[in-house]
Parts: sequence; structure tokens; C-alpha cells
Amino acid sequence: MGVFQMEIKEIKINELNPEKFIDEKIQEISSTVGDGIAINALSGGVDSSTVTMLGHKALGSRLRTYFIENGLMRDDEPQQVVSLFKNLGVHVEIIDAKETFFKALKGIIDPEEKRDKGITKTFYKDVFGKLVKESGAKFLLQGTIYTDIEETVAGIKRQHNVLEQLGIDTEEQYGYKVIEPLLELRKDTVRVVAKHLGLPESTYNRMPFPGPALAARVIGEVTPERIEIVRKATTIVEEELANIDAFQYMAILHEDRVTGIRSGKREFGRQIEIRCWDSVDATVATPTCLNFETLEKLADRITREVPGVVSVTYNIAKKPPSTMEVV
Ligand code: XMP
Repeated sequence: MGVFQMEIKEIKINELNPEKFIDEKIQEISSTVGDGIAINALSGGVDSSTVTMLGHKALGSRLRTYFIENGLMRDDEPQQVVSLFKNLGVHVEIIDAKETFFKALKGIIDPEEKRDKGITKTFYKDVFGKLVKESGAKFLLQGTIYTDIEETVAGIKRQHNVLEQLGIDTEEQYGYKVIEPLLELRKDTVRVVAKHLGLPESTYNRMPFPGPALAARVIGEVTPERIEIVRKATTIVEEELANIDAFQYMAILHEDRVTGIRSGKREFGRQIEIRCWDSVDATVATPTCLNFETLEKLADRITREVPGVVSVTYNIAKKPPSTMEVV
């Protein structure tokens, strides 16, 4: 922790000069990459979208932007992201890596192993390693932010995108250097930069979504079937809470099954937990005080529309000691 604190100085929201920050970062990316090629993964979240725009402004077509279809994203997400960026003049290629990810996640139950072996290694080594070789890129541009490092280095949760700060030499291990223009910013400050870069409000005010995607919301083994259940529940939660003023809301699939009853018959069913958080920068968070009718509607829809779900709960514990995601 000590080393990290000396190395990265946070730029607070009231200290930010967005135009100056943007100019400096474009300059930095340009001079680091020189006349070479860089690649980046765009998920559509505010961090990776901001980095994509900075990289695009710095490198033009020498930045290759990919959407990694890991099979863990929400409904229709790949197509939405690609078409949004097409409107901004940025070409995004979809890479189908579903099988690679599900193979790597098979049989893993431990949360940190899921993040490390299942997501991080698969992403950086198998999927990106291959893309780097094919494209000839020497640089990976990514949207790691201050909070990602803080929690990972403190040993709370290994954020999927933290490498160098954990002593990982990406050049030696994966064959490319990582450039991280947003390291000094927290989420609220990134949103200001995103807005100044001309990204639409749907992006700069977008709810955070974790790098490990829905795998961060499945307790126990991540399989295509279990992801599909949490995906369906996520769609319902996002529809029903769309007008709620909260930092983030989500559906979680539990590992344990419980006895339920449907059409007069016993059903040993699944459990979905809903979480909805009030927070400024995700460092601390409190559950949103949702009204009971909203919760009832969520429970009715989830038990009716998501196959096999007989129990729906709402989390009322704060972060800390909870974390926002469950994995
Ligand atoms: P936690 O669960 O650590 O989440 O309280 C805090 C915020 O970070 C998001 N999150 C991640 N974002 N990569 C990311 O880019 C990750 O590995 C990751 N894990 C959690 C989470 O959605 C919340 O907004």
C-alpha cells in the first residue's frame, strides 16, 4: 500500500481541469506509442469508453478497439456498444471469446480464483495475447482507475484490470505494455472527463458494471446456464429500477437452493438477491431505501419470469463490511 500511495497521486474532482487533462493524456499516449499500434478493449462502461476516445484522438486508426464477447455480458450489450461508437466514428470489432471464458471458469468456486484464473488470465493472456500477436500491437490501453488499485492493493478484491501495481510485468508475461491514462481519477471525476470528450449522457452517467461482468454476480460455479439466469434477473432489475436515483443496482444468483412451491408442487428452487447502492465513488456504500411496492414488483417479476427462482431477497447491509458485488 505504501509504495502505491507514493506512486499515484489522486486528482480530485475539484482539482480537475478537464481540457488540460485531456490534452495531456492525448500527448502522453501519442508519445508513448510513437508510430506503433495500440489495442484496447471497450466494454461500453464510462472508464473504457473514456480511454477509447482518448486513444482514438491520440492515435486514430492506429488504435484497434475490440469488444470482447466473453459470454458474461448483459442482454444485447455487444451490439449496443458497437453501434454507439460507430456513431462517434470509432470502429469496434467484436471478438467471440465465449468458449474460452466458460472453459476457464469451469469448476471454479473460490471468488479470488474466479477473478484471477477465470477472468484476468483468460483476458490478458489467452484473448489479448492472441490479439496482440495478430495485430502487431506493443501497447494495451486500459481504463484502470484509482479505486481499482486501492482495493486490489489493500487486498480486498482483486480487480480484474490491476496488473503492474501487483508487480506483474505485462511485457514479460503477456508481450505488451499497459498504458493507463485514468489511474489518478475516481469514477465521479472520470465522468467529467467523459462528458468533455463528447460522449453521450447515457455513457458518462452510465451505471458502473464490473470487468468480470455477470461472473461477479454468480456465487459458485459460472456456467452458461447460471449466467443466463442472472442475465434474465438483471434485465428485470435494470428495467424496474431505471428511474431510481442510485449509484448501482444488480441481481445476484445464490449457490444454495431452497424449498419452494409452484402449482401446488414442491420446487427445490434458486435464490436471487437484489442489491441497490447509494454511493459517490464506490469506496463506501449504503443500500437504497426502496419502497416496498417496488421490491414486491421485482419479486413478482423475477419469480414469474426467471425459470426456477423461488426466493428473492434485498440486501440491507452497508459497504463495509459488505462489498458491492458478491464475488
Ligand atoms: P466492490 O464489489 O469492490 O465494487 O465493492 C466497487 C465497484 O467496483 C466495481 N467492480 C469492478 N470494476 N473491475 C471493474 O472494472 C472489477 O474487477 C470490479 N469488481 C467490482 C463494482 O461494480 C462497483 O461499482
